[in-house]
Amino acid sequence: MSTTDSHAIGGTDVPADIDTTTTAGKLADLKRRVAEVANAGSERAVEKQHARGKKTARERLEMLLDEGSFVEMDKYARHRSTAFGQDGNRPYGDGVVTGYGTVDGRTVAVFAQDFTVFGGSLGEVFGEKICKVMDFATKVGCPVVGLNDSGGARIQEGVVSLGLYGEIFRRNVHASGVVPQISLVMGPCAGGAVYSPALTDFTVMVDGTSHMFITGPDVIKTVTGEDVGFEELGGAKTHNTTSGVAHHMGTDEEDAVEYVKALLSYLPSNNLEDPPVFGEENDLEVTDDDRALDTLVPDSPNVPYDMHEVIERVLDDGEFLEVQPLFAPNIVVGFGRVEGRSVGVVANNPMQFAGTLDIDASEKAARFVRTCDAFNVPVLTFVDVPGFLPGTDQEWDGIIRRGAKLIYAYAEATVPLVTVITRKAYGGAYDVMGSKHLGADINLAWPTAQIAVMGAQGAVNILYRKQLAEAEEKGESVDEARARFVTQYEEALANPYVAAERGYVDTVITPSNTRMNVTRALRALRTKRETLPPKKHGNIPL
Ligand code: HXC
Repeated sequence: MSTTDSHAIGGTDVPADIDTTTTAGKLADLKRRVAEVANAGSERAVEKQHARGKKTARERLEMLLDEGSFVEMDKYARHRSTAFGQDGNRPYGDGVVTGYGTVDGRTVAVFAQDFTVFGGSLGEVFGEKICKVMDFATKVGCPVVGLNDSGGARIQEGVVSLGLYGEIFRRNVHASGVVPQISLVMGPCAGGAVYSPALTDFTVMVDGTSHMFITGPDVIKTVTGEDVGFEELGGAKTHNTTSGVAHHMGTDEEDAVEYVKALLSYLPSNNLEDPPVFGEENDLEVTDDDRALDTLVPDSPNVPYDMHEVIERVLDDGEFLEVQPLFAPNIVVGFGRVEGRSVGVVANNPMQFAGTLDIDASEKAARFVRTCDAFNVPVLTFVDVPGFLPGTDQEWDGIIRRGAKLIYAYAEATVPLVTVITRKAYGGAYDVMGSKHLGADINLAWPTAQIAVMGAQGAVNILYRKQLAEAEEKGESVDEARARFVTQYEEALANPYVAAERGYVDTVITPSNTRMNVTRALRALRTKRETLPPKKHGNIPL
């Protein structure tokens, strides 16, 4: 066909020099459309994106996925909206790039919101594309990684946009615990749109360029009179340190993407599979690295030490991928491997608030234990906890209800649970931190462990109040009397042997034997089977 004018096929103008009555012409037309798909955003918008230190949706997918592995879905999808003159602007893809590819050879479904098209705003077709890729992931059993960079609900499409957000939320919930869901927030993510990342397993933000908030600075100013900027309100720092919404703060987009790839390496593709296995059997001979643990715990119970030292000496190659490292640092959670197999680590850190459990620490750990349990990752717990953090703030903010989440998480977990008590395990916190009573399988204690209702000082003040007062009245040294009572208490109760006598800990080990004992425990537990009573679902205190 040779005409001088363009003609339309499937609602798209085809230039006159392409003869679509021939096979060659049809192929040329397809090639032209493919190029149009790849350049849906204007040059100006792409430049603006780059000038902000942000990559485009396609550049981000290139960073995430194995080279050449991306298979795009719905690249020719376009919105059908005619409101506000939108029918004059119908770019292919509708502002979101969706599909699947591989990360380290394993299939992952992806969607990347394209800020260069309609500001990445979510309209009907955009939303349908995300739903389709989520349905695909749930059906085939592969993780979904969502790259968020969006102005939110597409204003021109009104309630339809809101409807599609709801459809996405429902899919997030239904996929929860079935396939891993990870959100990268790499630009704005505002209003109700934040709830999709919040419903996923992990949210990773980028320092300086990503923001999440329900209501922005202007609305806040109008309603409450508060002055706050985007960064302070909902930047990566805020959500990694203060709110606990995010699990990692990428220094830049590459760092954020690398973190997501690392996370995926510890997780199975779905809840019916085990995480991938890398590496060999452990050599169980005690090494110098192991021996360093024998001198780690200070003689004084009030002197802290860094629990990371213990964690890194037990995990393969000392590699530990910490999750939420900047939030509630009094508890440490993250992934590592023992004999090449994923483990989730939960550990009190005496370096921060003496390792006490507070609301944030309890919720952080509870969420992590549940994530591990959902995805067949054994949980390895290291305990050095003096108790719950006292104070009216904690009580009034609901430490009772919110601390209960950690109990709930451990008690419902059916994955292998191995616990090592290094020093203090006092009071309720002893029960909470992966105790035998909540269902842990193998519980080990170091000889430095003090498993008791409370620490010696506190106990002596209560038990020997009269004797201490009498000593003072008689003009004797109260300090000496107290020291005597403390020794008596520690010998009688603040040690691991009372618990070991009852089987609450399976054995007391030399610290340098920890790696060997943990390895053997996890080996034995590989075939663990446990099921809870059937029910619709539990009622975790929220
Ligand atoms: C339609 C939008 C849009 C939106 C941005 N754009 N947001 N189009 N609907 N929600 C368009 C802009 O018109 C512009 O188009 C292009 O995207 C880039 O936007 P800019 O404003 O030029 O970019 P920037 O200066 O970087 O500002 C980004 C922004 C701002 C901060 C996100 O665009 C903004 O405030 N947008 C509105 C955000 C918002 O209020 N969304 C609704 C939130 S409520 P042109 O053609 O000029 O390039 C919500 C509810 C979800 O989302 C509910 C779920 C249950």
